[in-house]
Amino acid sequence: MSASLTTVAYLGATILFILSLGGLSNPESSRRGNLYGIIGMTIAVLATVFGPRVAAAGIPWLIAAMVAGGAIGLYAARAVQMTQMPELVAIMHSLVGLAACLVGYASYIDTSIAFSGAEKAIHEIEIYIGILIGAVTFSGSVIAFGKLSGKIGGKPLLLPARHWLNLAGLLVVLWFGREFLHAPTVQAGMTPLIIMTVISLLFGIHMVMAIGGADMPVVVSMLNSYSGWAAAATGFMLSNDLLIVTGALVGSSGAILSYIMCRAMNRNFVSVIAGGFGTGGGTPAAAGAQPAGEVVAVSAVETAELLREAKNVIIVPGYGMAVAQAQHTVFEITKHLREKGVNVRFGIHPVAGRMPGHMNVLLAEAKVPYDIVMEMDEINADFPETDLAMVIGANDIVNPAAQEDPASPIAGMPVLEVWKAKTSIVMKRSMASGYAGVDNPLFYKENNRMLFGDAKKMLDEVLVALMA
Ligand code: TAP
Repeated sequence: MSASLTTVAYLGATILFILSLGGLSNPESSRRGNLYGIIGMTIAVLATVFGPRVAAAGIPWLIAAMVAGGAIGLYAARAVQMTQMPELVAIMHSLVGLAACLVGYASYIDTSIAFSGAEKAIHEIEIYIGILIGAVTFSGSVIAFGKLSGKIGGKPLLLPARHWLNLAGLLVVLWFGREFLHAPTVQAGMTPLIIMTVISLLFGIHMVMAIGGADMPVVVSMLNSYSGWAAAATGFMLSNDLLIVTGALVGSSGAILSYIMCRAMNRNFVSVIAGGFGTGGGTPAAAGAQPAGEVVAVSAVETAELLREAKNVIIVPGYGMAVAQAQHTVFEITKHLREKGVNVRFGIHPVAGRMPGHMNVLLAEAKVPYDIVMEMDEINADFPETDLAMVIGANDIVNPAAQEDPASPIAGMPVLEVWKAKTSIVMKRSMASGYAGVDNPLFYKENNRMLFGDAKKMLDEVLVALMA
């Protein structure tokens, strides 16, 4: 394939990637968006493999690597449970970071193209920054993987003088950057490069370890953004325009998502990144007043009774619905109630579940119509006119302590105000706290009922009772 044909193919792929992002912004067009992405990526890979920069002898190697990588990806995608999706995404981000590091080292060692003067300096700066971003992305994503999968505790690790440690790390990295640029030989440049890599890896670990449970959504989207910038950096190192554009698209859309997440959680982006936000300046995350009082448990039959009497119902799904895979039964109940003339809608919190859009994906999979799935801001004012708010496996996102207790680690985070409905029912297995590890006073409110048990099992029973 000639160089100009490759450029045209790259341009086509870029347009398809932009269309893909546009499509993915809405559940109804997301399948189309995905398709654009697949076509764009196929064009990009073919144009690269058969492009002018790959020698014919290298093609079998590339194909072998793609088959091996593709097989691992296919296996992982098939084997992963829906609830493990966030961890999978985190570990995928780590691979982008690792790739950027490896490409960085490879381009530094590779002396087949002799750069000189300003070109050499630019090339080395690209390598230095590329490895830096790659290493932070890699180690940060591995820790995020640990936190999301529960292998590492959710509590923020707050080292004394952590901001000073970060600042010192930055200064050392800048100092060694200078050393690296002035190194007379590749061998001499290796030492500062390795020291910077180790510091960046430690920084990635420190940054994510310092972030509290409830702020993890911001970290997930932030690492998504970093992985984009790491890919863009790889593009610079390899002088591949398409990789630069694609990386920048992922990087900037991840940054926008992080901003949206921060706004949704009423968090300041810089404070989240600095770590330990919402911990009252260093006290452990479980601080805040302990709720007290009696909880009133109800049965599935009583829940069905309450549903039957209601005219307006708002369903609030959370992580527990994903764990229980209860979305199909939720759909059956919704269908039944709607046929009886009940106004059923869904209230979706921006950080419900464990990844952006988690609930939307599950509800779409169960064929719940999009027009009754509302965002938090669209539906929050309607709770006072609602007969029944049904909370399915959600906890932090309906915690009134966010509004009522300034000492709570989630203070200030907007929540779905289910307690304002005439009656609320919370379905979960126990009195355990949610991801943020905070007690929930909702359970003790006078108008709240608890339906204890696995969400799928209990909803199956509710459906049977409704049909009876
Ligand atoms: P959580 O606060 O984690 O609460 C989920 C509740 O579901 C738990 O309290 C659990 O109680 C219950 N549950 C678990 N398995 C269940 C099952 N099989 N059947 C019924 N209930 C079950 O979830 P949420 O309300 O969706 O809030 C999300 C939290 O995750 C927020 O703190 C958010 O910051 C964080 N987070 C979000 C994201 C993104 S991007 N969405 C990423 C990382 C972290 P029991 O154990 O008593 O059943």
